[in-house]
Amino acid sequence: MFSIDLTESAQLRPLEPWQAKEFLAHMDRARETVDPWIPWASRSHDLASATATLQRYADGTARDAQRLYGIWLDGTLVGGTMFVAFDAEVGNCEIGVWLEPAATGRGLVTRAVRVLIDWAFRTRGLHRAEWHCNPDNVDSSNVARRLGMKREGLLREAYPWNGKRNDTEIWAILAHEWN
Ligand SMILES: CC(C)(COP(=O)(O)OP(=O)(O)OC[C@H]1O[C@@H](n2cnc3c(N)ncnc32)[C@H](O)[C@@H]1OP(=O)(O)O)[C@@H](O)C(=O)NCCC(=O)NCCS
Repeated sequence: MFSIDLTESAQLRPLEPWQAKEFLAHMDRARETVDPWIPWASRSHDLASATATLQRYADGTARDAQRLYGIWLDGTLVGGTMFVAFDAEVGNCEIGVWLEPAATGRGLVTRAVRVLIDWAFRTRGLHRAEWHCNPDNVDSSNVARRLGMKREGLLREAYPWNGKRNDTEIWAILAHEWN
């Protein structure tokens, strides 16, 4: 429907339930990169579960509580970014990201998240954007740092994944720190 250019060959667009087949094919390419860190690709393992994932975000968008966007590179869905949580009343949001291996190392996610933060702070008047990641996930914390976020702390053994409880590092940026 609409499309924001990230580079000459990459676009950010809404990712919706009708695109479940394309999303599942992409998830199959992304599992290798994503599975070590987050239970995201694992939630979409067949067409029904991929559709359910996209529908959950569509329902979240209708409640103004979540939003999901895909990144297309040369016409192929290669990753995305989302408001995992969005609370306009309190003024806080949390942003998540993922890429399949072919799309990493090009700055696509950093560019895409800038669009989300700009919209959250400038259009919606939010005050705080958070980034949660495993402290061993250096590629992820590098994105947070590149965006100007500050590391605020560590939630110890905060989420079960891959057979153990994992720590979560919290990064954040405030509206008045964003330019
Ligand atoms: C987290 C993840 C999305 C980061 O991917 P990424 O490609 O490193 O991030 P970006 O798209 O912002 O690209 C940054 C890289 O492109 C390079 N780059 C090239 N041009 C760039 C530009 N114009 N702007 C910014 N970076 C640029 C950067 O130097 C960096 O590479 P480096 O780390 O080798 O220095 C990816 O590792 C991933 O999908 N991981 C699995 C899922 C996951 O962990 N999600 C986050 C959960 S918290």
